[in-house]
Amino acid sequence: MDFTKISALLLVGSCFVIVSSFAACVKPCTCFISDGTRVVNCSTAGLTSVPADIPSDVQRLILAENSIASVSKKDFKGLDFLKTVDLSNNQLTDDGLPVDTFDDLPSFGALDLSYNEKFENFPTNLPGNLKTFSFMFNKATHVTEDTFSNLTELANLDISNNQLESVASGSFRNLRNLKSLDIGFNPIKEDGLPVSVLKPAEKLQTLGLRSAQLTRVPLDLPGSLQSLDLGLNQIRELPPNIFSNLTDLRYLSLWLQPSLTRIHDNAFKGLGKLQVLYADSCGLGDVTDGTFNGLSGVRSVYLGSGRISHLPAGAFRQMESVTSLRLERNQLTTLEQAVLDTRTLPRLSDVQLWGNPWTCDCHLRWLKEHIDNNNTAPTVSSPYLMTCTAPPRLKGRAWDTLSPDDFLCGDRYHKNSQQN
Ligand SMILES: *[C@@H]1O[C@H](CO)[C@@H](O)[C@H](O)[C@H]1NC(C)=O
Ligand SMILES: *[C@@H]1O[C@H](CO)[C@@H](O)[C@H](O)[C@H]1NC(C)=O
Ligand SMILES: *[C@@H]1O[C@H](CO)[C@@H](O)[C@H](O)[C@H]1NC(C)=O
Ligand SMILES: *[C@@H]1O[C@H](CO)[C@@H](O)[C@H](O)[C@H]1NC(C)=O
Repeated sequence: MDFTKISALLLVGSCFVIVSSFAACVKPCTCFISDGTRVVNCSTAGLTSVPADIPSDVQRLILAENSIASVSKKDFKGLDFLKTVDLSNNQLTDDGLPVDTFDDLPSFGALDLSYNEKFENFPTNLPGNLKTFSFMFNKATHVTEDTFSNLTELANLDISNNQLESVASGSFRNLRNLKSLDIGFNPIKEDGLPVSVLKPAEKLQTLGLRSAQLTRVPLDLPGSLQSLDLGLNQIRELPPNIFSNLTDLRYLSLWLQPSLTRIHDNAFKGLGKLQVLYADSCGLGDVTDGTFNGLSGVRSVYLGSGRISHLPAGAFRQMESVTSLRLERNQLTTLEQAVLDTRTLPRLSDVQLWGNPWTCDCHLRWLKEHIDNNNTAPTVSSPYLMTCTAPPRLKGRAWDTLSPDDFLCGDRYHKNSQQN
């Protein structure tokens, strides 16, 4: 039974039809319509081959989580409306997917071959109308100039979590429609990623390079990027103007990178549209008035779990749109009031400062007063988690248990003790 007949029967009596249509769906699959798409779901059914008699008007065919080791053209014969095939989590091998398998599917556009852990190479001769291709968690080691050369319509490509050591220059030369690319979790290193290799992908918006063993930010990335994930690499420094061509970037992730100890002044220059900077768990220790230059549009800045020990008065002065600043779990012992001054940072509403080894003396009295008095503009989040590391008499004390009068410097403390 196909979906056209189901729809016809729907007019007769919906209750009866729903029961009978599912009963009539090819075993052991379920057939249903989701968001206007005709789905046949044969997932997790112990299949070793594609069932025969798949309803001919299926648009999305889910064959995931089975034990299918090979497929062929005849498995998909006559499925003229088929757009999406999910063959993830099967036992496919390089030989189990003949070159012409998806030919003759006029509507075809999306293929998921992830988690077929026996694939050692990318399949060749995939149809040129493919728009979305997922090949995560396989064992491919190289992208060559040919791998994607015929896939000119490709918009979304996920080849993360393979064993890629190199991506040949020219690999993306024909992928001018690519919008989203994930190459993360591969042992690529710089040498494996030639300069300008991504440049031809001039519509690329989202690039995942997380955990790719990079020690430098790749050069000459497409200026169309809106989201760039460089987290979990071994990048050591950010040179001045390293992102200057990425004038459309909204999201930049550098997180979990203890090797990143140096961010040069003006490294972020040009990122005027950046909204979110994820730089938590990085090794950055020194911040200057110029470190965050260029981030005039940034709203949320994640700098937690780092090694920042000092913030100069103008550290965030260029972040005039910032609303949320996370500085928890750093090495800050004190903080000048000017750093968080809402005259320069008028939208700042939320700051995380807990988990720093505060020296609770007169220099931080303003912060204690701010928290106690009103704690708005900005709100210091979770102030009950803030503790003192110095001076010795306040070591280990929670701010909660202190009053502003406890935040004294040497002289005054002595005077006070004498008076008492
Ligand atoms: C397909 O079926 C599997 C197993 O019953 C289920 O876990 C999965 O959520 C279904 N997928 C969809 C899109 O309905
Ligand atoms: C690309 O298409 C050409 C011409 O059809 C074909 O000979 C070649 O094998 C294809 N390459 C890949 C990698 O699919
Ligand atoms: C910016 O673009 C120019 C021109 O394509 C290029 O020469 C330069 O290397 C790019 N800068 C970076 C940091 O990628
Ligand atoms: C706290 O601050 C807000 C915003 O600045 C202000 O509107 C409010 O009146 C203050 N409340 C108190 C109790 O001072």
